Amino acid sequence: MSTANKVALVVGAQGVIGRNLVEHLAALGDWDIVGLSRRGGAAAGRIRHIAVDLLDRDDCRAKLSELRQVTHIFYAAYQDRPTWAELVPPNLAMLGNVVEAVEPAAVGLRHISLMQGYKVYGAHLGPFKTPARETDAGHMPPEFNVDQQDFLEQRRRGKAWSWSAIRPSVVGGFALGNPMNLAIVIAVYASMSKALGLPLRFPGKPGAYDKLLEMTDAGLLAKATVWAAIDPRCANQAFNINNGDLFRWSEMWPKIARWFDLEVAPPLPMSLDVVMADKEPLWQSMIETHDLQPTPYRDVSSWGFGDFVFSWDYDLFADGSKARRFGFHEYVETEAMFMNIFADLRRRRIIP
Ligand SMILES: NC(=O)c1ccc[n+]([C@@H]2O[C@H](COP(=O)([O-])OP(=O)(O)OC[C@H]3O[C@@H](n4cnc5c(N)ncnc54)[C@H](OP(=O)(O)O)[C@@H]3O)[C@@H](O)[C@H]2O)c1
Repeated sequence: MSTANKVALVVGAQGVIGRNLVEHLAALGDWDIVGLSRRGGAAAGRIRHIAVDLLDRDDCRAKLSELRQVTHIFYAAYQDRPTWAELVPPNLAMLGNVVEAVEPAAVGLRHISLMQGYKVYGAHLGPFKTPARETDAGHMPPEFNVDQQDFLEQRRRGKAWSWSAIRPSVVGGFALGNPMNLAIVIAVYASMSKALGLPLRFPGKPGAYDKLLEMTDAGLLAKATVWAAIDPRCANQAFNINNGDLFRWSEMWPKIARWFDLEVAPPLPMSLDVVMADKEPLWQSMIETHDLQPTPYRDVSSWGFGDFVFSWDYDLFADGSKARRFGFHEYVETEAMFMNIFADLRRRRIIP
C-alpha cells in the first residue's frame, strides 16, 4: 500500500453499489482502496481485497484491526432476509462489527459513509409521501437503515470523524450474484422472452405500469458518495441521490423492448420468482447457443427483487435537491442508463 493520505475501506465491495464505488475511487487516482466481502477478489493497482465474514465478530477483529491507515469507511454491505424485521439483526451486526474492529485502530479515520435507501421513508411499505425529503418524519420500525444511522450517530459522539447517509432509489449498475439488481432482472427476462419467441410483457401489478418512479445510476451514486464523504459541508447529513429524471414503465418498457429487438405485448401480472423458477435449462442452452460466459443461473436470478419493484402501484421518488444545494450537480438520463447497462452486459457476454 502506498503512502496516499486517503485510504478507503469499501465494505461490500462486490455489491452492485460497492463494485462501482471501488472503480470510481480507483479512477480518481489519489485513493488506496481496501474492499471487503466474503468472496474477496484479486488485487489490482491500488486496490486490494480482504475476504471476511462481517457477521463473525472474531473474523472481523482478526482481519480488520490491522487496517490502521483507513481514513474513510464506505459502508455498502447487505444481507438479504425474507422480512423487514429479519433484516435488522444481521445488517446492524455487520456495520457494528466493522466499525468496532477498524475504528479503534484507524487513528486517522475521518468519515464513515452509510449507504441507505428509500426504505428510510417507508417506500417498501406502500404509498408513501412523495417527493420524499431528508427532513421527513420517521416511520414505525423495524427498519435497518434507520437503526444503522442511529448506531453511527451515537458512536460518533466525542470522535473526530463525521458520517454521511446516502439514499439512492433503485440502483442500476453491473454486478452478478446480488439479491437486488433490477437491470439484470430486465436484461435476462427480455433475453429469455426473445429465446422463447415471445414479446416483452410487463410482469408487474396493473397499477405499477403508469406510476412515476426514478432510478439511481451506480456510477452517479459512487460520485455522490465520495463527494459527500469529503466535502466538509456534508458532515453528519443525509442526501437523496437519484438520476434527476422520472419515468413510467409504460413509456420505458417499449424502449427496452426495442433495444432487445422485441415486440411489446400488454402487461400480464405474474411472479417472476414463480415463472422463471424452471428456466435454468433455458439459460444453459442460451449460454451454449450464443457462446456466453458460463454465469450460473442463480447469479442472474434476482427475480424476487423484480417482483418487488414491479409491484409498486404507487409513485416512488424523492427530492434530490438537497444534494444540489450542497454542491452536487451530476445527473444521468435513466433511459440511457438502462441501455448502457444492457450494452455492457452484452459486451461482457453475460447476455446474447
Ligand atoms: N441494489 C439496489 O437497488 C439498492 C437500492 C437502494 C438502496 N440499496 C441499499 O444499498 C446497500 C447495498 O446494497 P447492494 O444492492 O449494493 O447490495 P449487494 O449487491 O447485495 O452487495 C452486498 C455486498 O455485501 C457483501 N456481503 C454480504 N454479506 C457479507 C458478509 N457476511 N460478510 C462480508 N461481506 C458481505 C457482499 O459480498 P459477498 O456476497 O461476497 O459477501 C456484497 O459485496 C443496502 O443497504 C441496500 O439496502 C440498494
